[in-house]
Amino acid sequence: MSKANAINYKKGKEPHAREYRLVFKNVDRKGWDPGIDCYLQDGGYRELKKALLMDPVDITEDVKKSGLRGRGGAGFPTGVKWGFIPPNNTKPVYLICNADESEPGTFKDRYIIHQDPHQLLEGMIISCFATGANLAYIYIREEFPEGARILEKAIEECHQKGFLGKNILKSKFDLEIFVHRGAGAYICGEETGLIESLEGKRPYPRIKPPYFPAALGLYMCPTIVNNVESLCNVKHIIAMGGDAFAKLGTARNTGTRVLCVSGDVVNPGYFEVEVGHITMGELIHDLCGGLKPGRKLKAVIPGGSSAKVLRAGEKFKIKKGDQEIEIGIEDIPMDFDTLMACGSMAGSGGVIVIDDSRKASWILNNINEFYAHESCGQCTPCREGSLWMKKITDRITRGEASPDDVETLESVAFNIDGKTICAFGEACAWPTESFVAKFREEFLADTSEKYDDAILNPETELAAAHLSSET
Ligand SMILES: Cc1cc2nc3c(=O)[nH]c(=O)nc-3n(C[C@H](O)[C@H](O)[C@H](O)COP(=O)(O)O)c2cc1C
Ligand code: SF4
Repeated sequence: MSKANAINYKKGKEPHAREYRLVFKNVDRKGWDPGIDCYLQDGGYRELKKALLMDPVDITEDVKKSGLRGRGGAGFPTGVKWGFIPPNNTKPVYLICNADESEPGTFKDRYIIHQDPHQLLEGMIISCFATGANLAYIYIREEFPEGARILEKAIEECHQKGFLGKNILKSKFDLEIFVHRGAGAYICGEETGLIESLEGKRPYPRIKPPYFPAALGLYMCPTIVNNVESLCNVKHIIAMGGDAFAKLGTARNTGTRVLCVSGDVVNPGYFEVEVGHITMGELIHDLCGGLKPGRKLKAVIPGGSSAKVLRAGEKFKIKKGDQEIEIGIEDIPMDFDTLMACGSMAGSGGVIVIDDSRKASWILNNINEFYAHESCGQCTPCREGSLWMKKITDRITRGEASPDDVETLESVAFNIDGKTICAFGEACAWPTESFVAKFREEFLADTSEKYDDAILNPETELAAAHLSSET
């Protein structure tokens, strides 16, 4: 455990005074390298030695007590997930580290992998010991070739030091970890799509229930899928104990979180903070140095591109103790529960800040283009709808849409949301639902009634020109 100011960091990379560096403790650290010797000199693998002397059940209990919630997107409690492995299981158990990091706006896991791979491996080995997994995979996207190489080297170093392989540190515990490189698809980050891909198939997500990985995962065996940052936290839970970890952050929103801020701020970047200890306004103005000169805040997408957008000037009702209070966007504490109460989510920690120089339709079109490209195509509403949403926002940005298009756009999104096999359906529908609801006037202002007949009467000259320009 380390406060930001207790360690020397590279010039210009020093953490902000309000940060609490736990998982990112070694990121940008002066004199630090990703090799095992450096890690060992800093007390690395001490927690593994401690954990191997513990009862695996007690480790899971500690993770439950810590209150750790998954950092991959859904915020599901990690210890509870581990507890879903069927009690009388006789099949092999697998653990998969989700290093796909595919959510737009998210860029934290790659820094851990590049600069502190042994922290991840230590967290993974402890997690495998706790869950009874003797085989684990790190699923990493194709676009991270350097990350894959660093991890493979780190795994080799672990073998040489006896932290992997047979009878690890004479504990009678055996474990192998393999790096598996994906082919670079967003849907491979969805845990069941990932598992299909790992099995060598197209990454078509499986329907839940029944295919919850903890019961029916890789090769239909119990499989724990956890995000890179979640698994790193396990090491720190062992170091400080579940109860002490739970004191970081706030109740039900414990520990720290790496927030990745991009968009219209002076200093975008990553910031590790205690969950719920800073507000959106403090994040933007203190940690990120504020908005660009002369600009006003327009909106924030708080948890990766699939999180619903929050508009500046909106009022949100949240619970404080027994009371309900009304707050504005800048007063929102950055935690799972408050962001959900405000109608969005903390998601993957990717905070996208939008100022008044941006058009809502341009942003939404950009997001829709991504989702239309990434739908796996298994479900009709998602496959067709994601493309239709993109076509309509494309039309709006070109100034060739009719006012009715805005309603159609919204209805396409509602016809995807909740009607698909995996949560990609919501991920692609929520941006449209929220952008249209919150910036309806702006969308309508970008349309013209002269295009009213374009779809119904495609034989007219205007309609023909308009439709032929669509992709
Ligand atoms: C479309 C989609 C993409 C996802 N991409 C990622 C990803 O890149 N990395 C990740 O950790 N989780 C991703 N998730 C969430 C995973 O399905 C899964 O919940 C997560 O890896 C579990 O880890 P956690 O409990 O530690 O958060 C994605 C989910 C969806 C629906
Ligand atoms: S919701 Fe979309 S991404 Fe998910 S399974 Fe269906 S088509 Fe594929």
